[in-house]
Amino acid sequence: MQHTYIHEVVARDGLQIEPQFVPTEQKIELIDALSDTGLAKIEVTSFVSPKAVPNLRDAETVMANIKRKPSVKYVALIANLKGAERAIAARADEVNLVVSVSETHNRANVRRSTDASFEGFGEIMRELERTGISVAGALSTAFGCPFEGGQSSGRVLQFVGRYVELGVRSVTLADTTGMGHPKQVLDLCSAVRERWPELELALHFHNTRGMGLANVLSGLAAGVQHYEACLGGLGGCPFAPGATGNICTEDLVHMLECMGYTTGVNLDKLLAVSKRLGEIVSHELPGQVAKAGKTTDLHPIPGGLH
Ligand code: COA
Ligand code: ZN
Repeated sequence: MQHTYIHEVVARDGLQIEPQFVPTEQKIELIDALSDTGLAKIEVTSFVSPKAVPNLRDAETVMANIKRKPSVKYVALIANLKGAERAIAARADEVNLVVSVSETHNRANVRRSTDASFEGFGEIMRELERTGISVAGALSTAFGCPFEGGQSSGRVLQFVGRYVELGVRSVTLADTTGMGHPKQVLDLCSAVRERWPELELALHFHNTRGMGLANVLSGLAAGVQHYEACLGGLGGCPFAPGATGNICTEDLVHMLECMGYTTGVNLDKLLAVSKRLGEIVSHELPGQVAKAGKTTDLHPIPGGLH
């Protein structure tokens, strides 16, 4: 039996792209309910420009009003120094830096070159050093870019190396628009794990082309223990054309537990929060286990068969 760590991103990746602004109190309600399910990390919000991502313009209020559990790491995504300053003031446990492997997606997302992003991260690391805040680094479009197409594994490894040089100990390879396939995931994760065995490697998949959970299997085969996922299967980057939902947390937890991996997550509690999420966003969620039930939820035997 092997343990896996589940990082929930619905409050950030999920809600950033919803057509309607989710009221602040409902965000807080969702995060508090998620805190009670056994998740390792919850990405609460992002401290980015409210003009770029208006749905998360209430980041400070959300961070200040959630009830924190010591067992959960509360994470905020940031892209620049101003975001770091806001995350420090809001007492985030961890910040998630973000840069894209694709030059074009980085410009679309954060309006600067990848070199400028990494230069800024140096300054952010110096700023964070005096705090107890841990730092993770995300690499968007690591498995392909909707503008440029495939990214070479050499370039991805170079970007992982730039994070490592900055002192980042946890790196997430993100498949922003679901372009990665299982063989690619196995090869890339194996290469990263071989070169940096001490690095905490996490994976962030979108299910845009139906390969999300298959990619998790490849991650597991490469020894990766950390997975980001989104309640209900919501999610997507507003600056990536064709973006659709992340892999669904309850489907991921269900699959991992069926296979004998431990997650620490109480699936029944998670399904209850997913039901509430559906009410909050008022549309159907892509997740499947919430609709079909767990494989252990059996139906009554038809009468005539007795
Ligand atoms: N928080 C709040 N406001 C911010 C900010 C931050 N972290 N960073 C910049 N701003 C504000 C500036 O104060 C300025 O405001 P003003 O127009 O009222 O003067 C405005 O945004 C422009 O600032 P500038 O530094 O020129 O930023 P930019 O226009 O080059 O945009 C980003 C850069 C990174 C701020 C912007 O592209 C962004 O927030 N992107 C979000 C990316 C994202 O979240 N993607 C989804 C997740 S991967
Ligand atoms: Zn994402």
